[in-house]
Amino acid sequence: MTQRIAVIPGDGIGTEVMPEGLRALEAAAKKFGIDLAFEHFDFACCDYYAKHGQMMPDDWFDQLKDFDAIFYGAVGWPDTVPDHVSLWGSLLQFRRQFDQYINLRPCKLLPGIKSPLADRKPGDIDFYVVRENTEGEYSSVGGKMFEGTDREVVIQETVMSRHGVDRVLKYAFDLAQSRPRKKLTSATKSNGIAITMPWWDERVEAMSGNYSDVSVDKFHIDILTANFVLHPDWFDVVVGSNLFGDILSDLGPACTGTIGVAPSANINPEGRFPSLFEPVHGSAPDIAGKGIANPIGQIWSGAMMLEHLGHAEAAKAIVDAFEAVLAEGDASLLTPDIRGQGTTETLGQAIAQRLAE
Ligand code: NAD
Ligand code: IPM
Ligand code: MN
Repeated sequence: MTQRIAVIPGDGIGTEVMPEGLRALEAAAKKFGIDLAFEHFDFACCDYYAKHGQMMPDDWFDQLKDFDAIFYGAVGWPDTVPDHVSLWGSLLQFRRQFDQYINLRPCKLLPGIKSPLADRKPGDIDFYVVRENTEGEYSSVGGKMFEGTDREVVIQETVMSRHGVDRVLKYAFDLAQSRPRKKLTSATKSNGIAITMPWWDERVEAMSGNYSDVSVDKFHIDILTANFVLHPDWFDVVVGSNLFGDILSDLGPACTGTIGVAPSANINPEGRFPSLFEPVHGSAPDIAGKGIANPIGQIWSGAMMLEHLGHAEAAKAIVDAFEAVLAEGDASLLTPDIRGQGTTETLGQAIAQRLAE
């Protein structure tokens, strides 16, 4: 059975790490006899937008809805397109219209990579951020009043629904239950945000009734960020609203040495729509064009995609391959963010080669 993958490299380093993501997928597909068909789409600021003045064609939903998955690089080129225009014109549309309500973001200190936190070694940091991905603080409810006057007011509502919150909590509790430590941490702010967040806490409490074997704790987001730095070993599964999850999923990987390795899966668990797999990082205009971006975030996202598509063994082989290359620590192959002198390509090639062995 052929599985069809829509490939959207995007902008900046998205176009540099994507070939390495595909190289690893092709090597894994060959080794495990998986039939993947890739189709490329130019939905990016520096491509489709530059030609048409919008991020995607009007019929993007119909063009993409029957793919088995979407493999995505990163979008954004703020010099020419404002970020809220590019992201609300693409990535955030996929998450919402394809109901990818789970954003699953592993955070793991990998062999051979030095944590900026003193004395942390692989095994000490190994948790998941489960981020609500379709509502919360990322809402289009709000507006501007008295624009341009000194009485100007801007409002953007946070929207949380019982349906939306309960389904992400259920996913996070199920994940915690499947892991040896069976521990769930909720990110809250019910001391200051006095309507939505106390209600979030109530929903966590209610859901925990179905999972007597999962231990639950909660932290306000401010001290939670501090505890990510001070005690990353405390965490197993961390669940948060859209914005809190966004922040935690850059902070966590930073504690593991670089955001360049962090992957993510934007999942529609029911499979009604394609899920989307992308690195956590963005298009990094500051290093774009230099060929030095770390490709592991893209490659690991490809592994998550294979697992989602039912190829757990191939997914594990990809993770084993990049862990082996990192553990060997040949600095001539590694990218500068992990203290190497190599390039996106040398690291991607080494991983694909290891996979082929
Ligand atoms: P960013 O993640 O692009 O970059 C932050 C910093 O991390 C930069 O210094 C960058 O060089 C470094 N970095 C990121 N990825 C790296 C990698 N693979 N290897 C080595 N270093 C890496 O975040 P930003 O600067 O806030 O955003 C830049 C643009 O990307 C903006 O347009 C933003 O909106 C967009 N963005 C897009 C996505 C996405 O498409 N999913 C995610 C985040 C940001
Ligand atoms: C991410 C990104 C996006 C987000 C931006 C680019 C809209 O930061 O995927 O983490 O905030 O969700
Ligand atoms: Mn982010």
